[in-house]
Amino acid sequence: MERMDVHSWSRPAETKVRHLDLDLDVRFETKSLEGSARLLFDRTTSGELILDTRDLAIHSVENAEGFELGEAHPFLGAPLRIRLKPSSGAAADDWVRVTYSTAPGASGLQWLDPPQTAGKQHPFLYTQSQAIHARSWIPLQDTPAVRVTYAARVRTPAGLRAVMGAEMQGNGCFRMEQAIPSYLIALAAGDLAFRPLGPRSGVYAEPLLVEAAGFEFADTEAMIRAVEEMYGPYRWGRYDLLVLPPSFPFGGMENPRLTFTTPTILAGDKSLVSLVAHELAHSWSGNLVTNATWSDFWLNEGFTVYVERRILEKVYGPQREEMEAVLGRRELDREMAGLPEGDRVLHIDLDGRDPDDGCTLVPYEKGALLLRTIEHAVGRDRFDRFLRSYFDHFAFQSITTADFLTYLSAELPEAKAVELNAWIYQPGVPPGAADPHSDVFARIEAGWPADTAAWSTQEWLHFLRFQKEPDMARMDREFHLTDSRNSEILHQWLLMAVKANYEPALGRIEPFLCSVGRRKFLKPIYTELMKTDEGKVRAQAIYAKARPGYHPIAQTTIDGIVGKP
Ligand code: BES
Ligand code: ZN
Repeated sequence: MERMDVHSWSRPAETKVRHLDLDLDVRFETKSLEGSARLLFDRTTSGELILDTRDLAIHSVENAEGFELGEAHPFLGAPLRIRLKPSSGAAADDWVRVTYSTAPGASGLQWLDPPQTAGKQHPFLYTQSQAIHARSWIPLQDTPAVRVTYAARVRTPAGLRAVMGAEMQGNGCFRMEQAIPSYLIALAAGDLAFRPLGPRSGVYAEPLLVEAAGFEFADTEAMIRAVEEMYGPYRWGRYDLLVLPPSFPFGGMENPRLTFTTPTILAGDKSLVSLVAHELAHSWSGNLVTNATWSDFWLNEGFTVYVERRILEKVYGPQREEMEAVLGRRELDREMAGLPEGDRVLHIDLDGRDPDDGCTLVPYEKGALLLRTIEHAVGRDRFDRFLRSYFDHFAFQSITTADFLTYLSAELPEAKAVELNAWIYQPGVPPGAADPHSDVFARIEAGWPADTAAWSTQEWLHFLRFQKEPDMARMDREFHLTDSRNSEILHQWLLMAVKANYEPALGRIEPFLCSVGRRKFLKPIYTELMKTDEGKVRAQAIYAKARPGYHPIAQTTIDGIVGKP
């Protein structure tokens, strides 16, 4: 039988898990989760249930005839083959319970020592399951094609609060009644305070950060309402955010009911909240309608960037949306220029590859640009009606690119004015794309700025990136960029400093790379450093110090650029 998802050992066509009961102890002393997962499943004829695992120690499997842990693949992990008892006929009786513990280096977990947190007093744990890391902390069918409901009981040391992307019932008990794919199962534990933002939203953060987070995310309810007006009700009950320590390898992660975010977006002026719009948008594109395989990842991210920009337009106005869209468009071209052809297509072939590799701007920005192009071809009202019915039609389902195309041609036949096959299966951006334009940026391109006092982060980024031969000293003298406290601006500036070998800023590179673990910031700077002999020495010295503080996912990425120290 053809395997539907090349990144999972499971065979859901034969036996499909539908519910999970988790019972876990969070053990900071051994850096491990210990406990059990009880899986309820539906089956056809097969007498076998195959689960994905990665670096799990399996202690026992109850209510089965036996089990065998296969050989471990470098990034897919090991299949856990469970021989099932003959079916009793009663569907509710089909379950097994796996007792297990996780490894200290589990790829989906980061165990932080107190010095790595804002408060410095308590340890912190969080999970990151996307794309295929859930299997490193739960034995399950780790494919986005399978959706499960779950209940969990999580024990934490006194004084530490556990939170999950689920309904929080108190006393470490959680329940997720909507069926979700495994990559959205999420847990964190630490010294967390909570601050309400609106009637159905709030933010969890370490006590030292919770006030700043409350200010930064004040527009959350306005954003939720903006999407609801366009694409239908928010179907997950609450929408909360969790601010993680700075080593979080992503900007944000759309865990249902509880978006995980990097603290690097707490700029103090709400200028980086497009990330909240993005993760919120996933409550429709991704969490409600989910990519069935990682080759269909653009269905998650391209749709989400499109919806994110629509939120920005509605909440902050068209100028802001235009700036963000132009920044995205330029970065897409910049990144695509360095990618092999196969990585410039939307429906990417990932066979034999770690899906984390396919994570470029192509599914994000080329995907969003395709939807924008369809919108322009058929008109906004028509496209919005289509999208709304798309989210309703496929709600709580996992779909492929082919499913989308079939639905599109049935419901929006006018879209065939766009070269869909070229967009999806050919490299690069086809002619006729609805490229964004920003008048604000056009003014920046016209000459050296006279007054930058009221400039937004987006204007600064465009100004910096637009400089062909940047006069680093002049910019620093006039704008004090080396002292910037805005993570995006500082990142862009430091990247340019490496390229230009601008001495006065080079000293800020080490503290920056040692204090943040966001892959989007790390990757370009290390890559640029590695281009010269001098930079290489610097990169290796910094990485040797910084690596222990990075998340396993970021470590794997930077090992590939700098080498393992
Ligand atoms: N779902 C992604 C993060 C992700 C993608 C994790 C693939 C693991 C594998 C999330 O929604 C995302 O796209 N985050 C972006 C921010 C966004 C504003 C573009 C990020 O982390 O940079
Ligand atoms: Zn996303």
